[in-house]
Amino acid sequence: MLNDSLALLSDYPFDRLRALLDGIEPPAGPTVVMSIGEPQHSAPPILADILAANADQWGRYPPSNGTVAFRTAVVEWLTRRFGLPATFLDPERHVLPVAGTREALYMIAQVALPEHKGGNRPCVLLPNPFYQVYYGAAVMNHGQPVFVQDFTQAAPHVLEQTALAYVCTPANPEGTVASLDTLKQAVMLARHHGFVLAVDECYSEIYDRDPPPGALQACAELGHDLSNVIVFHSLSKRSSVPGLRSGFVAGDPRIISAFARLRAYGGAATPLPVLTAATALWRDEAHVDSSRSLYRAKIDAAERILGGKFDFRRPAGSFFLWLNVGDGELAAKALWREAGIRVLPGAYLAQAGENRINPGHPFIRVALVHDLGTTITALQRIHDIL
Ligand SMILES: Cc1ncc(COP(=O)(O)O)c(C=O)c1O
Repeated sequence: MLNDSLALLSDYPFDRLRALLDGIEPPAGPTVVMSIGEPQHSAPPILADILAANADQWGRYPPSNGTVAFRTAVVEWLTRRFGLPATFLDPERHVLPVAGTREALYMIAQVALPEHKGGNRPCVLLPNPFYQVYYGAAVMNHGQPVFVQDFTQAAPHVLEQTALAYVCTPANPEGTVASLDTLKQAVMLARHHGFVLAVDECYSEIYDRDPPPGALQACAELGHDLSNVIVFHSLSKRSSVPGLRSGFVAGDPRIISAFARLRAYGGAATPLPVLTAATALWRDEAHVDSSRSLYRAKIDAAERILGGKFDFRRPAGSFFLWLNVGDGELAAKALWREAGIRVLPGAYLAQAGENRINPGHPFIRVALVHDLGTTITALQRIHDIL
């Protein structure tokens, strides 16, 4: 009765965590959820005001390609942030609003995957560990997921069959950042082998020292050409509003227009009051700077408390610690039982490769999404318990 491909999906990581911790009583007192990357920094105050001021717009169906003001704000932001040539992006052809990047990262597989490529089921390249939506999107669209850490190392026959490749930079969960050279190589490979390069940049504004480069920057440096590339951005992490469900995609006009057609059938168009608020948020950097400083202070604290242990590394981007604790599930259970701290076992964010080893198994992912005091207390407890 149901779609056979659903059987290929394991339960979502947070459901697996619930099952793992079910029946384990945390100690009395407050619990701290560090398993989910849900920013708890306060939302920019202008948000509520703009939503209220535009309340009359809730009664209108929003256009699925958004408003000129939104698309223009996005183009101006991308141009400033990634140092793009002034005329590189056109708000009419290169940008679309999306209801957060999750649905867009899922739907891109439906846009990009033909029935066959090179005579076979199309391959979808993804990192490992990875954001689970990439895998779900691949298998639900009859793609064959192939884990590759570095595209240039993928076998030529795989690249010939590849229809879509996901890159996540800064990467969830490791917090690593792809260099501009790596992005350029990925772009060139996508063009050479005729696949769509989907670059998930939703953590691009949460960084430690240097602003991470982006794939549109790679395109600009390779020439005045956006072919084969689409990037994904979101206000969820940048502006600490994961509940707003507002992001955008930008890139190759052929992909954007195919995406717009698909979204007209099955996408959730962003409501007009949300588009107006999002326009203002993309135009403001002050709230992003202060949020970034707070993340930095938490990472400084993490380094003081955990430095030299658990293979601690400061994440160059994102707000995740990726700690090698030997056995992520055991550690997650101990932290919940002894301290009421919820962290995610790394195994739930990865899959066993051909060598049957799940590269996430020894790790836990700790999301530094709370205020500084709560974070310091929790990190100290993590240190003491593990
Ligand atoms: C790597 C990555 N991509 C995309 C998303 C989706 O975020 P949103 O749909 O809120 O933009 C997340 C959320 O946790 C994420 O970690």
